[in-house]
Amino acid sequence: MSIADFPRYPLTFGPSPVQHLKRLSQHLGGAQVWAKREDVNSGLAFGGNKVRKLEYIVPDVLATGADTLVSIGGYQSNHTRQVAAVAAHLGLKCRLVQEKWVPWDDPVNDKVGNILLSRMMGADARLDPSGFDIGLRDSWKDALAEVEAAGGQPYPIPAGASEHPLGGLGFANWAFEVAEQEKQLGVYFDTIIVCTVTGSTHAGMIAGFAALEDLTGVKRRVLGIDASATLAKTRDQVGRIARHTAELIELGRELRDDEITVLEGWAGELYGIPVESTMNAIALGAQLEAMITDPVYEGKSLAGLIDLVRSGEIARDSTVLYAHLGGQPAINAYHSLWT
Ligand SMILES: Cc1ncc(COP(=O)(O)O)c(C=O)c1O
Repeated sequence: MSIADFPRYPLTFGPSPVQHLKRLSQHLGGAQVWAKREDVNSGLAFGGNKVRKLEYIVPDVLATGADTLVSIGGYQSNHTRQVAAVAAHLGLKCRLVQEKWVPWDDPVNDKVGNILLSRMMGADARLDPSGFDIGLRDSWKDALAEVEAAGGQPYPIPAGASEHPLGGLGFANWAFEVAEQEKQLGVYFDTIIVCTVTGSTHAGMIAGFAALEDLTGVKRRVLGIDASATLAKTRDQVGRIARHTAELIELGRELRDDEITVLEGWAGELYGIPVESTMNAIALGAQLEAMITDPVYEGKSLAGLIDLVRSGEIARDSTVLYAHLGGQPAINAYHSLWT
C-alpha cells in the first residue's frame, strides 16, 4: 500500500499554508527560510500536528465502534487538546490523563491554555502527579480500565499518538503535500527542520521523504530538533516509528542512518523548560514575522534553525522549510516569562 491508499478522515482545512519568512531570512543573512504552518491547519480548536496524525487514526476509531477516546500528556499537552477536539467533532466522549510533565510553577499552569480548552470541549481531564516520560504509562492504562468498568468502549491513543501503529502516516503524507506545494510555488526545500519529542511527526516525515526520494531521485535533509531533553529515548522512538511507517507505506528498503537525524543542543536541561536560546528565538519569530512559537516545542526548534543558518551548517544557498507544528495555547500557562 502506498500512502495514498490509507483511509484518511478529513479534519484539516486541506494542505497547510507555506510562507516565505522574508524578514527572518534577511535578518539571519543566510539561507532562505520558509514555514509550513500546522498551527493553522484546522478549525478544530486551533489545530496542530496531532490533528494531522489523527486523520489516519479516526477511520480505525470509527471501525471499532468505540465511544470514548482515552489519551495522555502533560498538563499543557497540545496533543490531548487535539484529541478532545476530535472527540467533540465526532460526538465521542474523551477521558484525558494530564501528568505533571513539567516542573513549572506558574500558578495557572494546570488551569489555562490547553487544559482549559479540553475541558471547554467536554473532556474529562484529570490531573496526575507523575513526571515526564514518552513511553506507555500505568496512569493511562488505569484510565482505559476505568472507562471499561463504567460500561464504555475506550479507544486508546498514546502520548502524541506516536506509539499508535498508524501514528506516522499523517506526516508521511505531509512529505507528498510539500512536494506538490513546491511545484506550485516554484521552490525546492533542501532542508526540513522539525521539532521532535514523542517522535511520530519526524518519523512520518522521514518515511514519507524517503519514499519521495525513491520516486523522484530528489534528496533532502530532514533534521529533527530534540525538545524532549531525553535524547536517547526520542532517537530510539523516532528510528523505530520511521522504520515501522516505512514498512507500512511499502518503502521496500531499509532506511539509511543518514535519513534519521535527531539533533541535540536546544532542549535545555528539561522538557518544557525554555532556555535563553528558546526565548531569543521566540522573540525573533514574533518580532520579525508575527509568527508565534511556544516555549516547550516550537521555540526550541526555531532556535535550532536559527543557529544552523547562522553557523552556515545550513548553507547560504539553501532553502529551508521550518515545520511549525502548533502549540500556541500553552503560552498562557507560561505568562510569567513575559511579565
Ligand atoms: C507544538 C508541538 N510541537 C512539536 C511536538 C512534537 O511532536 P512529536 O511528539 O510527534 O515528536 C508536539 C507534540 O509533542 C507539539 O505539540
